[in-house]
Amino acid sequence: MKAVVIREFGNPDGLEVVDLPAPVPAPGQVLIATEAVGVGGVDAVIRRGTLPAYGFREGHLLGSEVAGRVTAVGEGVDASWIGRRVWAFTGLSGGYAERAVAAVEDVLALPDGLTGADAVTLGSSGVVAHFALDRAGCTPGETVLVRGAAGSIGITAVQLAARGGAGAVAVTTSSAERGARLRDLGATHVLDRSGEGGPDAPAGFDVVIDVVGGPQLPLFLDKLNPNGRYVAVGVVGGQPPADFGMRLMNAFRRSLSFATFSSDTVPGPDRQAVRATQFADAAHGDLRTVVHEVLPLDQAALAHHQMDAGKVFGRVVLAP
Ligand SMILES: NC(=O)c1ccc[n+]([C@@H]2O[C@H](COP(=O)([O-])OP(=O)(O)OC[C@H]3O[C@@H](n4cnc5c(N)ncnc54)[C@H](OP(=O)(O)O)[C@@H]3O)[C@@H](O)[C@H]2O)c1
Repeated sequence: MKAVVIREFGNPDGLEVVDLPAPVPAPGQVLIATEAVGVGGVDAVIRRGTLPAYGFREGHLLGSEVAGRVTAVGEGVDASWIGRRVWAFTGLSGGYAERAVAAVEDVLALPDGLTGADAVTLGSSGVVAHFALDRAGCTPGETVLVRGAAGSIGITAVQLAARGGAGAVAVTTSSAERGARLRDLGATHVLDRSGEGGPDAPAGFDVVIDVVGGPQLPLFLDKLNPNGRYVAVGVVGGQPPADFGMRLMNAFRRSLSFATFSSDTVPGPDRQAVRATQFADAAHGDLRTVVHEVLPLDQAALAHHQMDAGKVFGRVVLAP
C-alpha cells in the first residue's frame, strides 16, 4: 500500500511517499480501506520533531484519524463491521496510508449524509472542543475566548459556545477575512493573535480555550475575569514560557484556574457518545465542518507546507 512516513524531522519536505505492506488487523482491531485522512495540527507538531519525549523515530507513519470502509476484522471482532463506512482513531500513527488498522472501540459507523472528509475534520477535534468547554464549566451568559479558532478544534468550540448561550464568543485569528468566516460560524468578536480587538472587545473573559500556547500565553491569562477558567488544549504556537505560572500566582486574589486538557483522559465510551451526537448533528447541518481542501495522499508534504504557511482554515484532508 502507498503510505507517507517521516524520512527526516523538521521541514515538510522530509515527508516521503513509500510502499509498505498493508497492516493485518490484530485481535480487537478492524482493517479499513481509507477514503479520507485528517491532517491535524498534531501531525505537524510530530513532523517538526518538537515532541522528543514521545520517542518518534525516522520512518514514523503519520496520521491519527481516517474514514473509509472496513474490509477485515481481527479475532474477537464482530464480522458485521465488514463493509461498513466508519471513522477511526488510529493513535499517533498509521493514518497516512491506503489501509489502516484501529481498535474497534475507536471506530464509529458513519451516519448517512456525512462524508469521510467531514468525519475526519470533526472526529477528534469536536470531542476536544466539547470536553474543553465542559471542563471549563462554561455556563450560559459567560464570555468565552477561543484562541487559535481557525483550526478544526476552534471552529467547533466557537459553534458549541455560541449554541450553549455564551454571552460573547471572541476569537483570535490572523486576518480580517478569517475573522469574517469565524463570525459566520458564531463568533461575536474578532481579536488579532495578540488579543487586540478594538474598543468593542470584551475587557475580560470567563473562559479561555487555548489551542496555541506559546510565548504569548501569559498575555491571555491576564484576560481572565475573576474566577475565570483557562483550558489549554494545544501547542500550535509552541510551549509557553517556563515561568508562566508566576502570572497565575501574582493574580492570586482573582481566583483564576489554569488547566490542561487532553481527550486521552476521557473514557472511550464518553468520547464515542459525544462523537456520535456530533456526527449526527453534522449530517443534519446543525454543526458545520470546514474542509479547507482535499489533496491526494501523495501530496501530504504540500498539505504540511500549507499548514506551516498558515494558509489552512479548518482542516486539510488527504484522499488515498
Ligand atoms: N487536547 C487534546 O486532546 C488534543 C487532541 C488533538 C490535538 N490537540 C492539539 O491541538 C492542536 C491542533 O489543533 P487544530 O488542528 O485545531 O489547530 P491548527 O489548525 O493547527 O491551528 C489553529 C490555528 O491557530 C493559529 N495559529 C497557528 N500558529 C500560531 C501561532 N504561532 N501563534 C498564534 N496563533 C497561531 C492559526 O490561526 P490564525 O492564522 O487564524 O491565527 C491556526 O489556524 C495541536 O497542538 C494538537 O497537539 C489536542
